[in-house]
Amino acid sequence: MWKNGRNRYGLVSISFHWALALTFVGLVGLGVWMVGLSYYDPWYNDSLALHKAIGIVALALALAKIGWRPADPKPALAADLKRHERAGATAMHWLLNALIVLVPATGYVISTSEGAGIDMFGLFEVPAVLGTSEGLRDLAIDLHYYLAYSGIALAAVHAGAALKHHFIDRNSTLRRMLLPRSPERRKD
Ligand code: HEM
Ligand code: HEM
Repeated sequence: MWKNGRNRYGLVSISFHWALALTFVGLVGLGVWMVGLSYYDPWYNDSLALHKAIGIVALALALAKIGWRPADPKPALAADLKRHERAGATAMHWLLNALIVLVPATGYVISTSEGAGIDMFGLFEVPAVLGTSEGLRDLAIDLHYYLAYSGIALAAVHAGAALKHHFIDRNSTLRRMLLPRSPERRKD
C-alpha cells in the first residue's frame, strides 16, 4: 500500500508525484503572473515572496522524492507499451526528475546571490550558502527561465501521453498513478 509494487505505485510515490505536479504547474503560473506585474502593483513584493517560499517547499519535496527512490524502486512500465513508448517514457521521467530539482535550485541561486536568505512564510529563514556573485545570478536567471518553460512544455507532453494511455490505449498507466490499489496480478 505505502511502497511501490512490481507493477503499481505505492501511496508515497503517488503523493510525491501529485504534490510535485501541483507545485511545479502552480509555480510556473505564479512565476509568469508575477514577472508581469508593475512595480506599483500591491502584489509586486508578496507574489515573489510567495513564489520563493513555495519554490523552496517544491525543492525539499523533489529532494525527498529522489532520496526516497533507492528505498522504494519504481514499478515496471505498463506491459503493453511499444518500444518507442518505453524509451520516450524513460527519457521523459529522467528529464522531469532532473527539472523538479534544477528549476527550484536555480531559483534559490537567483534569490540568494546577493547574500539574503529566503523567508519561509514568516516562520524561519533558509540561509544563503553561496557567495555573492553578479555573474552567477545572471546565469541562474537565464537557466531558471529556460528550464521552467522547458519543464512545463515537457510536463504537458507527459500529461498528454498519460491521457492517451488511459483513454485510447486503455491501459493501467494513469490509474496506477491515481490509486495504490491497482491489482498486482494483472498483465499491465
Ligand atoms: C496532469 C498532469 C500529470 C499527469 C496526468 C501525470 C501522470 C503521470 C503518470 C500516469 C505517471 C506514471 C507513468 C508510469 O510509470 O507508468 C507519471 C510519472 C511521472 N510523472 Fe507525471 N503526470 C502529470 C504531471 C507531472 C508533472 C507536472 C511532473 C513534474 C514536473 C511529473 C513528473 C513525473 C515523473 C518524474 C514521473 C516518473 C515517476 C517517478 O519518478 O516517480 N508529472 N505521471
Ligand atoms: C518548481 C519550482 C519553480 C518553478 C516551476 C519556477 C518557475 C518560475 C517562472 C516560470 C518564472 C518566470 C520567468 C520569466 O518569465 O521571466 C520564475 C521567476 C522567478 N523565480 Fe521561480 N520557479 C520555481 C522555484 C523558485 C525558487 C525556489 C525561487 C527562489 C527561492 C525562485 C525565484 C524566482 C525569481 C527570483 C524569479 C524572477 C526572475 C526574474 O527576475 O526574471 N523560483 N520562476
